Amino acid sequence: MANAQYILALDLGTTGNRAILFDRNGDIAGQAYKELTQYYPQPGWLEHDPREIWDDIQWAIQAAIQKASINPAAIAAIGLTVQRETCLLWDKNSGRPLHNAIVWQDRRTASICNDLRDQGLATEIADRTGLVLDAYFSATKLQWLLDAVQTHQQDPPIDLDDVLAGTVDSWVLWNLTGRKVHATDDSNASRTMLLNLTSRQWDEKLLDLFNIPAHLMPEIRPSLGHFGHTDADILGAEIPIMAVFGDQQAALFAHGCNRPGLLKCTYGTGAFLVAHTGSEVARSQNQLLSTVAWSEADNGSSKVGYALEGSMFTAGACIQWLRDGIKLITTAADTEASAEKVPDNGGVYFVPALSGLGAPHWDMTARGAFLGITGGVQREHMIRAVLEAIAYQVNEVVEAVNEDSGTRIKLLKVDGGACQNDFLMQFQADVLGIPIERPAVLDATAQGAAFGAGLAAGYWHSYDDLIQNRKINRVFEPGAAASQAQENFHMWQKAVARAKNWVE
Ligand code: G3P
Repeated sequence: MANAQYILALDLGTTGNRAILFDRNGDIAGQAYKELTQYYPQPGWLEHDPREIWDDIQWAIQAAIQKASINPAAIAAIGLTVQRETCLLWDKNSGRPLHNAIVWQDRRTASICNDLRDQGLATEIADRTGLVLDAYFSATKLQWLLDAVQTHQQDPPIDLDDVLAGTVDSWVLWNLTGRKVHATDDSNASRTMLLNLTSRQWDEKLLDLFNIPAHLMPEIRPSLGHFGHTDADILGAEIPIMAVFGDQQAALFAHGCNRPGLLKCTYGTGAFLVAHTGSEVARSQNQLLSTVAWSEADNGSSKVGYALEGSMFTAGACIQWLRDGIKLITTAADTEASAEKVPDNGGVYFVPALSGLGAPHWDMTARGAFLGITGGVQREHMIRAVLEAIAYQVNEVVEAVNEDSGTRIKLLKVDGGACQNDFLMQFQADVLGIPIERPAVLDATAQGAAFGAGLAAGYWHSYDDLIQNRKINRVFEPGAAASQAQENFHMWQKAVARAKNWVE
C-alpha cells in the first residue's frame, strides 16, 4: 500500500460506536459516531443488538472516509477496540445472533455468582483469572445465554457445532473479515473469567464449570499482531487488522503507560483506573482486578504486560441517566454550568450504583441513591452531587492503588468524554489532592487502537515518539476547595454504606 496515509481506529463503546481516521502526525483526519440503543428488558438487565453494532460501525467507517475525502485504499491498517465483557452467541452459517448481547453492566447472573461463592469457589476463580467473582464478567453471561437459547429453541434443537461465542471484538472481527476469522486478543480474553491469566489459554476447568464447550470460544491472539484482512466487499479494500484491545487497555497504551508505576483513568460509561504492573501478574490486597494490559507478537511467540484495575461501573452512565432517564438536563454539557451555579452540594450525596458497585466494593445488590435531601435542595445540587460522586469513587480506587503499591500516586492522567467537564476535573483534583493531566485528544481509547495498529503495521516506528508527541490540554491543580472536598468524601462514604446490600 504505497499510498496508504491513514490508520483507522474502530472504537465500539457501550453507549456508541465510532470510527476515527488518524494521519501520520497522529492527528484526527475524519470521524463519525452513532449512539447505540440500550435495551433494559428488566431492572438490572441491559442488552445490545449485535446487528445494530455491526450496521452502525459499517456506517461510521463510510462516514469517516467520506468526511476525510479519502479512498479506502489509503488506509494502512485498522485497530479495533471494544467495550469489554459484553458477549454474544451467533450462528456461524447464517451469521445471525442467537440472542441480544448481554452487556457488562447487566446483573441478571448475580445469583449464579452467589451460588458459586456459596460453593466456596470465589478464591479459586480469582487465582485462575485475576478477577473478583461478579456478574460483570462474560462467563456467567455466556452460561445464561447458552441455557436460554437451548431452552428456547428445542425443535429442532440448536446444534452447538454451528454456534460461535465471543465478546464484541470477536463479533466485529468475524464480520469485518467476511466471516473468516474467529479470534480475540489477550486483553479482551482476560475479561471473560474464562482465561487462565498465567498460561493465557482458555481455562478448561472454568469452561467446564460454566458449561461452555471449548469449540465455541475464539482463538486468542496477541493484541498487536495480524488479525486478518477486511473483506473487499465490505470496505471496498482489503485492509489489514493489526491490533485488537479492550477499550481500557487501549487507553492505557495511548497514555504511554507501558511499565510499572504508570496509570490512567478513563471516564467513559464507567470509570476505569488501570495501572501497568509489568510482565508478571500482580495481585491486589484491596479488591482490584489483575488483568492483561496488552500482548505483542514477538518472533512467533508473544510478550505480555499485566495491569491492576479498579472498575467503577457508573460514570458517564449517570450523566446519561440525568439526561435520558430523569431528564434533569438536556445535554451532558449542561452539568458543568448547573454544578457551578451553586456554591456547594447543599448536603446532597449521590451513590452511583445504577448497575451495582464495582471496585472496591463489589456489591451486585447495591443500587443508586440520593441522600441528604432537604426542602431547600435545588435541581443544581442534585446535578452537582452526581458529578461529585464520580470523583469520590475514583478517589476510593486511587486509595486502593496507593495501598497496594505502598506509594502515593502523584499525578493522574485522564481521558474519556466526561473529562471535558472542567467542574468534574477540578473537583477530582481537589478531592484527590493531586494534579489531573488532561490530554488534547480525549479519545485515548481510539488513539491507543490506532497507535497499536500503526506500530504493528510498520506505519509508525517508535512508540516513545508517539507518546512524546501527544499534547496536553490542561493540568488541574488542587485548589482552595480541596480540604472541603476531602472532608465531604467521608459523608459520601456513609451514603455508599447505606446503598449497599439493597436488592434481595
Ligand atoms: O469494562 C467495561 C468497559 O470496557 C466499558 O468501557 O468505554 O464503554 O465505558 P466504556
